[in-house]
Amino acid sequence: MIEFLGDWKRSHYCGDLTSADIGKEVVLMGWAHRRRDHGGLIFIDLRDRQGLAQIVFDPEVNKDIHAKAESVRNEFVLAVKGKVNPRPAGTVNSNLKTGEVEILVTECKILNPSKTLPFTLDEYVDVAENLRLKHRYLDLRRPALQENMILRSKVAQATRRYLSDNGFLEIETPFLTKSTPEGARDFLVPSRISRGEFYALPQSPQIFKQILMISGFDKYFQVVRCFRDEDLRADRQPEFTQIDCEMSFINRDDIIRVMEGLIATIFKEAKGVDVKLPIERMTYQEAIRRFGVDNPDLRFGLELVDLTDIVKNSGFKVFADVAASGGIIKGINAKGCGKFSRKEIDDLTEFVKIYGAKGLAYVKMEAGEWHSPVTKFFTPDEIKSMSAAFEAEEGDLLLFVADKPKVVNDSLGKLRNHLAKIMGLTDKDEFRFVWITDFPLLEWDEDEKRWAAVHHPFTAPMDEDIEFVESDPGRCRAKAYDIVLNGNEIGGGSIRIHQEKVQSLMFKMLGLSEEDSKVKFGFLLDALEYGTPPHGGIAFGLDRLMMLLTGSDSIRDVIAFPKTQKGTCLMSNAPSPVDEKQLRELALKVTVK
Ligand code: AMO
Ligand code: AMP
Repeated sequence: MIEFLGDWKRSHYCGDLTSADIGKEVVLMGWAHRRRDHGGLIFIDLRDRQGLAQIVFDPEVNKDIHAKAESVRNEFVLAVKGKVNPRPAGTVNSNLKTGEVEILVTECKILNPSKTLPFTLDEYVDVAENLRLKHRYLDLRRPALQENMILRSKVAQATRRYLSDNGFLEIETPFLTKSTPEGARDFLVPSRISRGEFYALPQSPQIFKQILMISGFDKYFQVVRCFRDEDLRADRQPEFTQIDCEMSFINRDDIIRVMEGLIATIFKEAKGVDVKLPIERMTYQEAIRRFGVDNPDLRFGLELVDLTDIVKNSGFKVFADVAASGGIIKGINAKGCGKFSRKEIDDLTEFVKIYGAKGLAYVKMEAGEWHSPVTKFFTPDEIKSMSAAFEAEEGDLLLFVADKPKVVNDSLGKLRNHLAKIMGLTDKDEFRFVWITDFPLLEWDEDEKRWAAVHHPFTAPMDEDIEFVESDPGRCRAKAYDIVLNGNEIGGGSIRIHQEKVQSLMFKMLGLSEEDSKVKFGFLLDALEYGTPPHGGIAFGLDRLMMLLTGSDSIRDVIAFPKTQKGTCLMSNAPSPVDEKQLRELALKVTVK
């Protein structure tokens, strides 16, 4: 029998009850998480978003509601009235916030039954992710996901409060818009009214927030969805959320200071963690040299060692040839990994090959000597110098890659993170931040045979490099910065170009004709000519930040309704075919079956 809520009002959340509530009459509402029938007494763990409370049905107290409790199955929706009692001695559950109390039920309503769930909601039961995503409404009932979403809400609120308190205005920008280049493919939306024409969903509000600066709003922020059609990974979603900010009349240090305050506020309010300010800074150059990547994880050492000078004239042809053709030789000392088996080293070799390395030479430090197939190619002096550079000790494993700089840094940088995982050097509760500054402005795109913006086309070159933008693009640095947390890029921004001439030059460098620039960015170029203040900003990836704050392995665990690696929503079945009529209205024809 289904009953109605009537005028019952909840007095407490189940999960909030403590021994301080003993003696109180309470009204609780929630889901039957688990039922235990002890012949006489029936115990149900009643669950709401705050947690579980044990409710007790005693036939001696009330036969009818005890009988009702017998019919309750998992996930039935209940409302109960009762009294909070201390649990009898020996039955206290110290794993539970509410473990010292139980509620003796005096009235009970079954508000709705539930079918048997396709999977149980117990934390420790591993359920295939596809099944979880198909029934996301159930998956989201799991306490861990509830906690993630509650924390996410806290972070969003702390962000809004901090930024508002610091004079930022929250202003919305359009979703149906024109392409903004952030390096991914656009999602397109066909227009019914302008048949044959398309909106693009924004990859970020970049151009609009700059225009808000031109309009004089001075400090803007938005917690905003961005859309990028790119290959998905564990830390990427096709739609994701940015904490997007822009400020006028500021320089890089001003932005960094305000944003460090935001980070400290978020970590304090969400995690109770004190972030030590100011956050360390490192140039892009230094990051690549020491860690091979521009998002170094500073929780562990394993720094890259450059050996080019030592081995360039050595008898090991692989190394000598690479050095002679402008390549480099770098290595990592995997401390204490000298005991790795042949198979383990082969696996590492396969790992670096993913990033283009042709091999992974290795040396084991055993009994004070080099043990390696390549020892014979080196002189005692070379071995001594390399050992010193590696600070090699007994039991270490030295790993080398020789190749073009990009391949060496990429493969060893990724290998460094991989080794740290294997070696257990990463602690999820340690938070190591670093700003990476002085990025290159442009990089050569070998596939497209043209220069491409490293950050985005609106990023300003360093003042002293502007004169070289045309003559020597590769040497120019940008006023761009990223913030990295435990090896993850959680945010990035820059000081923008605020002069039309410089912006036009940049478009030209990127291979856009004057005509193309006008078609794509004419409105920005026009706006830049009407008194644009110097400005700059940043955007944080809120989902990535939440992933790290919650210690989740997947970005999907911090998004209420995420997409799969294939960009689908298994719950709603999006994307899906549409009616002929809809297609006709949009003047579209689908050519795939
Ligand atoms: P950028 O492209 O670096 O900068 O994006 C900012 C931050 O957003 C996060 N992010 C993502 N998170 C999840 N899934 C994705 N597919 C994804 N792509 C990016 C990252 C990244 O650091 N308009 C500029 C910002 C600016 O210059 O102010 C921008 O969007 O954490
Ligand atoms: P080979 O001379 O090809 O038998 O290689 C000898 C050792 O050097 C093997 O351990 C290879 O994995 C390694 N090696 C080969 N090419 C490279 C390279 N480009 N960088 C680092 N090590 C390499």
